[in-house]
Amino acid sequence: MSALPQLPQTPLDRLGRPLHDLRLSVIEACNFRCGYCMPADRVPDDYGFDQAGRLSFDEIETLVRGFARLGMHKLRLTGGEPLLRKGLPALVERLAKIPGITDLAMTTNASLLARHAQALRDAGLQRLTISLDALDPALFRRLSGERGDIDAVLAGIAAAEAAGFRGIKFNCVVQRGVNDHEVERMAAHFRGSGHVLRFIEYMDVGTCNGWDRARVVPSHELHACIDARWPLRALDANYRGEVAERHAYADGAGEIGFISSVTAPFCGDCQRARVSADGSLYTCLFSGLGQPMRDWLGEGEAAFSSRLADLWSRRGDRYSELRGSASAPRKHVEMFLVGG
Ligand code: GTP
Ligand code: 5AD
Ligand code: SF4
Ligand code: SF4
Repeated sequence: MSALPQLPQTPLDRLGRPLHDLRLSVIEACNFRCGYCMPADRVPDDYGFDQAGRLSFDEIETLVRGFARLGMHKLRLTGGEPLLRKGLPALVERLAKIPGITDLAMTTNASLLARHAQALRDAGLQRLTISLDALDPALFRRLSGERGDIDAVLAGIAAAEAAGFRGIKFNCVVQRGVNDHEVERMAAHFRGSGHVLRFIEYMDVGTCNGWDRARVVPSHELHACIDARWPLRALDANYRGEVAERHAYADGAGEIGFISSVTAPFCGDCQRARVSADGSLYTCLFSGLGQPMRDWLGEGEAAFSSRLADLWSRRGDRYSELRGSASAPRKHVEMFLVGG
């Protein structure tokens, strides 16, 4: 009897954390220039690799299959702005068929969503997360580096709803003195919509956002502000390692969340890997160096999986817990390369 091919074991890292979640960037370019991610004065308008610098769809499929062999079951497509990647629905269709992937989501700024929502849904995309930091048209435009049009985003949201996306998550990064006065308006807008707004503490990602701790609005402050107007009730996490603290409006108007990576780090349960569009692995949002994996893909899915398992088992990242201490890494990957 011939032996069955041996599968690599589901690896645990040095802190006992499994690999459950992959955030895969399909493109490093973006049509926005949000100051906290890709500031216009630091990143040229035409920034981006050439097509050959990005993993092909075949390579991406091998990579995702390799991750899935190790127990990764939540897959999120990111950018830059993923909708700039040509033929994305065809890629989604391939990834949606991979055994073991139980959750297939995408993070987008929604500016191009109106023309792609239906095709993505038809291809098997299950969930959407939309980055949205303001509703006021002038402020929205300014925050996007003078690139974005709130009406296009609202049209994108409407198209996503029409295509059947439910419970869309909205990520709002709050900065003191920049958009904190929009918080109640945002909450009012999404209450009762069936969607979930999450306020995110502004983080020191990348190397060019000029992070200033004074601009971080702690989640407890935002919680108090919302709770005073619309009483909130805490909800349990949907799964172990969920980054958002969930709350329900007591009057039944749905759910809202708070993501507190600065004031309440969640590294202890971090099961996320990130891969840039050129195929480098980052085991933390704040890693300085990625591990190039493109050459490994050429060895096939099983060999790739073994190498990945080996690398994951050596992981010890916990940047948010070390922030400010002498042992915290200083050099960070740019957010637009790994997409949040
Ligand atoms: P799902 O559970 O798949 O819906 O996603 P999520 O709740 O993890 O949300 P998402 O991927 O949109 O992450 C929301 C935001 O939380 C990101 O844009 C980051 O600002 C922050 N975040 C997510 N993951 C991490 C992480 O591993 N470390 C840190 N420090 N921040 C994170
Ligand atoms: N702090 C917090 N979140 C950030 N994002 C990007 N830059 C930052 C930052 N400095 C998140 C946004 C966006 C996603 C792509 O990354 O929430 O939705
Ligand atoms: Fe683009 Fe998203 Fe970064 Fe804004 S946060 S510049 S939309 S990748
Ligand atoms: Fe995970 Fe790094 Fe974020 Fe901590 S800082 S939760 S280890 S990605």
